[in-house]
Amino acid sequence: MKISGSYLKIQYDKNKIKKLASLTDSIHMDVMDGKFVPRETMSFDEVKTITKYLKKGFDVHLMVKDVYKYIDMYKTISPRCIIFHYEAVKDVLHVIKYIKLFNIKVGIAINPETNVQLLKPYLDKIDLILVMSVIPGAGGQEFMDISYKVDYLSILREDNYYAYKIEVDGGINDETIEKIKNADIAVVGSFITDSDNMKAQVKKVRGAL
Ligand code: DX5
Ligand code: ZN
Repeated sequence: MKISGSYLKIQYDKNKIKKLASLTDSIHMDVMDGKFVPRETMSFDEVKTITKYLKKGFDVHLMVKDVYKYIDMYKTISPRCIIFHYEAVKDVLHVIKYIKLFNIKVGIAINPETNVQLLKPYLDKIDLILVMSVIPGAGGQEFMDISYKVDYLSILREDNYYAYKIEVDGGINDETIEKIKNADIAVVGSFITDSDNMKAQVKKVRGAL
């Protein structure tokens, strides 16, 4: 399983972000608008500065209502994948097609209470599913057991030869990661970034697999 580092809690600490990027397989960029979720993350101009020193690929997790406005901004910094929330949009298919226009991979995120079956019409059209294991909006929350969704998506993929990756986001540490063994990518934030020894934390979480 790959580890994607979330810098949400250290967004103003350039050196820590650089270090996180060097220790993990990719970077997970959380974007909050104060509307879809109560909080707001840094401005797009500030994000642009961060991307200048991110050498590895990064994925953008849009926790926003006005999805098109943010796609138009974030497409310009060449993310590997743009992930939008199923709950935030009316025309899922249209958003998928729109992101694909820019040759960027497409991901759909689902909240813990959202039924995974609702994604069925889109499974052959997307590159990634982000299964939320916390209610989006903040780092450092407790993991909610959504392992049945991961297992279900993994079986569906095998049976139908779908190509999507399964990623889990929220509350992942060296214990909770064991519950999502069928996922391809785990987003890990505070378990790594709250520590002064980020290297040791990454080692612990990789060691638990
Ligand atoms: C939650 C964010 C997550 C979060 C992960 O709204 O989408 O990406 O930063 O951080 P931890 O690992 O602290 O839950
Ligand atoms: Zn996230």
